[in-house]
Amino acid sequence: MGREFIDLFDEWSSSYDETVSGDDQEYKEVFHKYNEILNTVVQRSGNIVLEFGVGTGNLSEKLISSGKKVIGIEPSKGMREKALARNPQLELHDGDFLSFPQVEHADTIVSTYAFHHLTDEEKDKAVGLYSQLLKKDGKIVFADTAFLHDTDKKERHEKVKNQGYLNLLKDLQTEYYTTIGVLEDIFKKHHFDVSFQKLNEYVWLMEAVKK
Ligand SMILES: C[S@@+](CC[C@H](N)C(=O)[O-])C[C@H]1O[C@@H](n2cnc3c(N)ncnc32)[C@H](O)[C@@H]1O
Repeated sequence: MGREFIDLFDEWSSSYDETVSGDDQEYKEVFHKYNEILNTVVQRSGNIVLEFGVGTGNLSEKLISSGKKVIGIEPSKGMREKALARNPQLELHDGDFLSFPQVEHADTIVSTYAFHHLTDEEKDKAVGLYSQLLKKDGKIVFADTAFLHDTDKKERHEKVKNQGYLNLLKDLQTEYYTTIGVLEDIFKKHHFDVSFQKLNEYVWLMEAVKK
């Protein structure tokens, strides 16, 4: 479930790191301060980290070099190959946000630029699973594109359309980017204290602590 974008990521795996470095004008603002965003997630993480949607392994690399144990989950074969080439010592599994090997000791669940691949209903299901997996004070630390409210989302679509960024527009219209209100309700429903911090024009940090 939530795997409908995998073919796209197999194709993107060879040029993904150029996009995050700002080479693709359309995605420049989305990936603005990419390294700082990943560093913020590392700083907020505990010692045993379950990471979803590792992509080419940029966040995994930073977590590992900070001395953390990382268990990575990634559904795209192309991305898994890239991530392992970068981090041969990474424990990496084929899986997704909803279907993954049993991990018992994680104190933190992280993900960057990936949670929007789930519909809001699937996001709710995923956070429910993580609530069962984490102990009290365990954390979810996600960074992803989200919108303050629906008007904010519509205005962003309009702005991107006027800029002529039609690939980005299609992405924003077809993937499941949600609002801070929806995310707040989901985390609260599953017994998390949650806070949000805007990190660039698109990306928000969400830090949820299990009660
Ligand atoms: C935009 S990339 C982000 C990669 C990396 N986390 C980063 O910050 O650069 C999104 C990643 O999420 C993965 N993905 C797509 N659907 C997923 C799902 N349902 N569960 C977990 N990961 C998924 C993609 O294969 C891809 O590697």
